[in-house]
Amino acid sequence: MPLPTKIRIVEVGPRDGLQNEEKKLPTAVKLALIERLADCGLTIIEATAFVSPKWSPQMADAAEVMAGLPRKEGVSFPVLVPNEKGLDAALAAGAKEIAVFAAASETFSQKNINCSIRESLERFRPVIQRARDAGMKVRGYVSCVLGCPFEGEIAPLAVAEIAWALFEMGCYEISLGDTVGFGTPEKTKALIEAVGRRVPIKKLAGHFHDTYGMAIANIYAALQEGVNVFDASVAGLGGCPHAPGAAGNVATEEVVWLAQGLGIDCGIELSKLVDTAAWISGELGRSPASKVARAILAQRRRG
Ligand code: HMG
Ligand code: MG
Repeated sequence: MPLPTKIRIVEVGPRDGLQNEEKKLPTAVKLALIERLADCGLTIIEATAFVSPKWSPQMADAAEVMAGLPRKEGVSFPVLVPNEKGLDAALAAGAKEIAVFAAASETFSQKNINCSIRESLERFRPVIQRARDAGMKVRGYVSCVLGCPFEGEIAPLAVAEIAWALFEMGCYEISLGDTVGFGTPEKTKALIEAVGRRVPIKKLAGHFHDTYGMAIANIYAALQEGVNVFDASVAGLGGCPHAPGAAGNVATEEVVWLAQGLGIDCGIELSKLVDTAAWISGELGRSPASKVARAILAQRRRG
């Protein structure tokens, strides 16, 4: 399949990127990050998660984050919601878009949201229905699509079933999460082919983690399969507190670098994005994890 001429990047840094950090970032820093990301040209920025603060302490300030979001034409700020309580809080905070999150692994589902896959889908049905009735867009995630830290291999057909269940309930897009980064390009292609038989490929997004350095290779494989939406996290921030061993998400600047190299438009200013990666990494007391940010910063230092 020819590569797309355009891709959409869903920036998940403020949520997926920060949920696993030891250091609790002040709300003001999270808001400054969101503002900077919007300034770079990102138009979908997952802002926070209305989850139990006992399960994800970093997201405990979800309502404060929502109250301080920049008002930018054409930029949306989806939030994660695990249940009706989360939906109520998201609605009260003025969210316009939510994402529900299921898993393709039973063990991960229990560890992440304290219920079985079947129970989670039953839980999401009224959440999705009520959100849509309130005029919200709803995205669906499936985690552990290319392997689970507890169960190992996950069958693509099992992923396809869950993706279809979420799509059929009303999710406009299904993000396939390689939560621990076990994926390789051929496995990624096989997964997309299997899921694409149940959910249209144009309704799928790729969400890759770079634990084994395969995220960009997997994105290239997914592009070849016709996927044109990718989740990414500035500076490669992230990981899941309930997925031991998972490293950061693919860095947004690496996806932009790949897209530019392939002549694909993604509407993001790379130079500003690298500044943002350097800044947020500094706030977290380190330098950016991504090779692209490191290379561009080193090149700038050389003049
Ligand atoms: P539970 O303990 O079974 O929930 O957790 P519960 O209904 O029994 O409630 C327990 C307590 O939590 C109660 O408070 C509730 O009020 C409260 P208490 O009476 O003990 O004081 N509670 C809430 N508080 C705020 N917001 C809520 C909420 N719900 C209950 N929405 C639950 C079940 C789903 C709530 C919990 O397991 C949870 O919040 N899990 C989320 C954990 C998380 O954030 N994980 C990271 C998500 S990332 C991911 O999944 C992967 C993804 O990034 C893709 C990828 O990388 O591959 C999407
Ligand atoms: Mg992730």
